[in-house]
Amino acid sequence: MKVTVVGAGAVGASCAEYIAIKNFASEVVLVDIKENFAEGKAMDLMQTASLNGFDTKIVGSTNDYSKTQGSDIAVITSGIPRKPGMTREELIGINAGIVKTVSENLIKQSPNVILIIVSNPMDTMTYLVHQTTNLPKNRIIGMGGALDSARFKYRLAEAMDCPSSDVDGMVIGGHSDKGMLPLTRLASRNSVRVSEFITDERLMEVLESTKVGGATLTGMLGTSAWYAPGAAVSSLVQSIACDQKKMYPCSVLVEGEYGLSDLCIGVPVILGKNGIEKIVELDLNDDEKAKLKESAEGVKKTNSLLDS
Ligand code: LAC
Repeated sequence: MKVTVVGAGAVGASCAEYIAIKNFASEVVLVDIKENFAEGKAMDLMQTASLNGFDTKIVGSTNDYSKTQGSDIAVITSGIPRKPGMTREELIGINAGIVKTVSENLIKQSPNVILIIVSNPMDTMTYLVHQTTNLPKNRIIGMGGALDSARFKYRLAEAMDCPSSDVDGMVIGGHSDKGMLPLTRLASRNSVRVSEFITDERLMEVLESTKVGGATLTGMLGTSAWYAPGAAVSSLVQSIACDQKKMYPCSVLVEGEYGLSDLCIGVPVILGKNGIEKIVELDLNDDEKAKLKESAEGVKKTNSLLDS
């Protein structure tokens, strides 16, 4: 199993590190445009192999895509990250060109590749890959919901004063501060609804802090977060590589599911060896349906900027 990660910045490198530590891939190729940068990160990571006990070979490449040839899965993290106060949508101008070129380069070397898009504004970048490549829809996956759901579980665990492993919850919708839809009604602690443990008011605080999860960290760190994004990507990669068929909310092309079409937005999917094996349709209530529709309108508005 060969995995390429394009962009050796904080998110890409952390993604490569988690993939290696989980020890399921034979090779990870890190690509960056900055001379020797990916090679340096790869060497540094390889020097952790004996300490962390993994056998995955990590290789760096300065924009030489021939090294990525025959990749089963490729992750696109390239582009500029958010600065404090910026929205993900503001990155579209620069990142659209980069994501288009990178996806074309990857597909040239690996026609059967499954692409995972992380660059922001992620839902729009995922849609752009649909529009500019001829990959089937099951092989184009946007990573946002898995990260937002992990942040939701962190906030729920904090509110209930329990470990995250006790908590189950999911965030669907667009990967944006306004568009995220944490499914508070369905969140549970060991099958017991979270409303048994915390007040509605506290649950609303959890919801709001989840939606600005990325922005909060950008304000604290001066750039966007990397550990949780890297871990979330590595989980998606593992589910595909090991055909685990796990369910994660991912940004995918919807064609009538949830009453939505002609956009990529976060909905629960089953991830296996073919990429998206299935879109799972949840029985949402009217309020949730309305919020998802509103979120989709926001994503479509950002998508319309692709033509300008
Ligand atoms: C975040 C970026 C990766 O939410 O979108 O941290």
